Amino acid sequence: PQQELSGVEQREARDPMAAAEGQWVLMATGRTPTNIAVIKYWGKRDEALILPINDSISVTLDPDHLSATTTVAVSPSFPSDRMWLNGKEISLLGGRFQSCLREIRKRARDFEDKEKGVKIKKEDWDKLHVHIASYNNFPTAAGLASSAAGLACFVFTLGKLMNVKEDYGELSSIARQGSGSACRSIYGGFVKWCMGEKDDGSDSIAVQLADETHWNDLVIIIAVVSSKQKETSSTSGMRDSVETSPLLQYRAQTVVPGRVLKMEEAIKNRDFESFAKLTCADSNQFHAVCLDTSPPIFYMNDTSHRIISLVEKWNHSEGTPQVAYTFDAGPNAVLIAQNRKTAAHFLQKLLYYFPPQDNDLSSYLVGDKSILGDAGL
Ligand code: DP6
Repeated sequence: PQQELSGVEQREARDPMAAAEGQWVLMATGRTPTNIAVIKYWGKRDEALILPINDSISVTLDPDHLSATTTVAVSPSFPSDRMWLNGKEISLLGGRFQSCLREIRKRARDFEDKEKGVKIKKEDWDKLHVHIASYNNFPTAAGLASSAAGLACFVFTLGKLMNVKEDYGELSSIARQGSGSACRSIYGGFVKWCMGEKDDGSDSIAVQLADETHWNDLVIIIAVVSSKQKETSSTSGMRDSVETSPLLQYRAQTVVPGRVLKMEEAIKNRDFESFAKLTCADSNQFHAVCLDTSPPIFYMNDTSHRIISLVEKWNHSEGTPQVAYTFDAGPNAVLIAQNRKTAAHFLQKLLYYFPPQDNDLSSYLVGDKSILGDAGL
């Protein structure tokens, strides 16, 4: 089923007439959604291979919203590897795309398209340069741009182009080397990134816990609190936490293992109460670790804190949790409601307290796992 989420939409050799002179271009396009962690990944035990210090669990959003679309192309006429992100050329040198490119190239296989007159031997892929063009279907200004969707999409699509036959687990471990959270976007639905034990990282892969049809009632509202670029990147923030936060070690070794088991159970049973409690607790602990880091990292702001209070009060007044909140390395709130009715009701409240014209909260994105859209507010 993930084929649809990360599917390659076209694969063609353009200008077959010119193929004989080596003027062909072979390309593939794929689309991959971003994912939101409900049990957070924070901290690496190996920086180069991107191996985490704990398991994490996420939910992958619908590909129609908050996803990356990437076209990769190879041609004998390309003199170098090049990449464009949202239409602007960026450097590939020493970057994370480079690690993924190297890993996919290693696994490339023979390819032949007789009709179009293109034949590439396994060993010839190394000689062909790649052009990559990637777009996010959500406003970059919303500050939600995540490397997860982009890198997962790149790995998946390049793998298709280069006739790579590895399974999704193996692809997730390649995407992981681009950005940790990217490995979870290889699958739809609910996904667990198993930290693994091996030094070479071969068992640090993502697995699907349940597919995208499993818990369709959930509705996700993203409250865009700030569109500013975050001051501390996830990569450097988690490095500082590993070096300085005693709470991080306690979290990874003592808290997360039990939480992961409980979260798997909650997802399996569609038990929203447990799901919401675990999601909120894990987000709060992640931000507590950030505060415990030296110097402290402040990803959330006053508006984020006010949203947390609103959700807590709302859940309390309803008797059982109806809405869960989670915040990544920034102030924007990801709110997960139990169903559409609750989401509509809660959104009304949110709009009352945080009107969109207020500069604090610039916009909302609303939808569920299968329909996530701009509310047009
Ligand atoms: C807070 O995957 O962006 O979103 O592996 O250094 O690229 P790198 O970090 P990244 O970190 C994501 C951190 C998080 C939590 C999560 O997604 O699990």
